[in-house]
Amino acid sequence: MSFQIRPLSDALGAEITGIDVSRPLDESTFAAIHEAHLAHLVLVFRDQQLTPQQQIDFSQRFGPLDVHPSQGKAHLEGYPDILVISTKRENGRDVGIRNAGPKWHSDLAYRERPALGSMLYALELPDRGGDTGFANMYKAYDALPADLKRAVDGKRALFHSTRSSIDARHPIIRTHPETGQKSIFVNPQLTTGIEGMDAAEGDALLNMIYFHNTRRTFIYWHQWKPGDLVFWDNRCVQHIADHTRLDDPDYIRHMHRTTIAGDVPF
Ligand code: SIN
Repeated sequence: MSFQIRPLSDALGAEITGIDVSRPLDESTFAAIHEAHLAHLVLVFRDQQLTPQQQIDFSQRFGPLDVHPSQGKAHLEGYPDILVISTKRENGRDVGIRNAGPKWHSDLAYRERPALGSMLYALELPDRGGDTGFANMYKAYDALPADLKRAVDGKRALFHSTRSSIDARHPIIRTHPETGQKSIFVNPQLTTGIEGMDAAEGDALLNMIYFHNTRRTFIYWHQWKPGDLVFWDNRCVQHIADHTRLDDPDYIRHMHRTTIAGDVPF
């Protein structure tokens, strides 16, 4: 099966058209998608019509799925592997997580094995707003000023979940297990400090890195279209959701996310 790939920005990201991922994919098609994902870091599969099980099946081609700590209360009924990210309310209760990804982060960074990647499928979208930003952490590492590179060299950071008490320690600079490229792994949503540094010193260094990480040239903002399935590589990409309309009652954004389990960062 052939498909088309079109880069979406100079930072990262490519649009994939001409493929229906709800159908079983042969090995060579899967290998081409895998290669495109490693090259572009974020893939946007357009015009998909996926049942929850089809999203799970496609996600599992990349590895076993991980369960988000919020999935206990925010999973899709009957599908524990699907996390619901939604502004909808039913019977006075949120049907999923309303405010996922309020700051730059990579998914499950507070786990011993953070996520390999996540797939987010758009089911209902607002007329405006609700974009998702993606930042290329390979580019951020490559452009990191030499003094900051020296300051973080060989250091580990502490990570903590805001939704559970899980925490972990990981290298500030990690090496991608498949491409061998280095990227910056610390993020303002889930990193809480630097091992062996006092809080003020660690925070000062982290804030300089966060400022650097969000240079415009590293970022692509995705404006969602109905039927988009977006697959990002958490090992070298950070993301953030635009929540500026979260309190607007007319703002409906409803999505299903699957999360693919990853390795221990090194
Ligand atoms: C997330 O952090 O997984 C949510 C991203 C989004 O809702 O755009």
